[in-house]
Amino acid sequence: MPSEATEGLEEPENLSYEDLEEDDNVSPTDLSELLKEGTKESHDQAENTQFVKDFLKGKIKRELFKLGTVALYYTYSALEEEMERNKDHPAFAPLYFPLELHRKESLEKDLEYFYGEGWPGKIQCSEVAQRYVDRIHHVGQHEPELLVAHAYTRYMGDLSGGQVLKKVAQRSLKLPATGEGVQFYVFAHISSPQQFKQFYRARLNALDLDAGTKERIVQEANKAFEFNMQVFDELDKIGALLPEEVQDGGLPLHDGRGDPRQCPYYAAKLGGSGASGCPFHLALAMLKQPPVQLAVAACLAVMAGVAAWYVM
Ligand code: HEM
Repeated sequence: MPSEATEGLEEPENLSYEDLEEDDNVSPTDLSELLKEGTKESHDQAENTQFVKDFLKGKIKRELFKLGTVALYYTYSALEEEMERNKDHPAFAPLYFPLELHRKESLEKDLEYFYGEGWPGKIQCSEVAQRYVDRIHHVGQHEPELLVAHAYTRYMGDLSGGQVLKKVAQRSLKLPATGEGVQFYVFAHISSPQQFKQFYRARLNALDLDAGTKERIVQEANKAFEFNMQVFDELDKIGALLPEEVQDGGLPLHDGRGDPRQCPYYAAKLGGSGASGCPFHLALAMLKQPPVQLAVAACLAVMAGVAAWYVM
């Protein structure tokens, strides 16, 4: 399936990824190997962030997933804008695959699904995501030879874990099986992610770069991982402040630990002091404490004793 980006190029670039044989002849100085080895530690760290671990376990609130989609939208908008700018730059042109890879349009569909019409006016870029976005713009405009590091970190990652993450999100957020809300994970023009990744690696290795530039690209890829982890940490912190969500049409757990603003009693009092003072929050939170449970049991036993004595 040759695309516009893969047509008309000279060997080895003119191969479509579907024609490519598995190539085990990798050299340690190949950029694909340098990147894989040089970002191994960052990859381990990213996999072990709380946000990613929770997501894999299906512990993700809908509001947080929406905010994650927003962060991705700003990131990919910047990345794809800079890739457009550099599509003819020799250090990036062989990695330009808008049809196969670009995610901005898919993310727009996801945001429209989650936020409805007028979604652009309902979202904003967080400070942490903005730092990542600023770096991508800086690289695209002043150090375009490093842009490939940002493309590698995101697209190779998306092609590696995308299908799993899509299923986790659909299951835990009860999203429609028809794919609304998770278009980001759907690469409609890539029939075999594994083969495409091999093809992408071959393109990375065909770039004409000196050792120093390769080293800078690996450093930049580690920076890209770091930006991603900062975004995950920010989401994790926001997630801790979000109220528990209603599951299966049941009532949200009113255990005194959630956001008190979700409590109707609190809402009614908001005009006043601002302090919750909700008796249900207080009582339920206290009843969760073992010493309080013990005291309540003791009181009940004494009351039962007094009642029995009175009846006799
Ligand atoms: C949920 C946690 C994650 C898991 C379980 C995971 C798993 C994997 C696996 C199994 C591969 C190897 C695929 C292959 O060789 O074909 C891979 C590759 C990759 N992942 Fe992840 N990943 C995770 C998170 C991330 C994150 C957060 C990023 C970056 C933002 C990322 C970026 C990458 C990249 C760039 C590659 C390509 C490595 C290479 O072959 O050069 N991954 N991942």
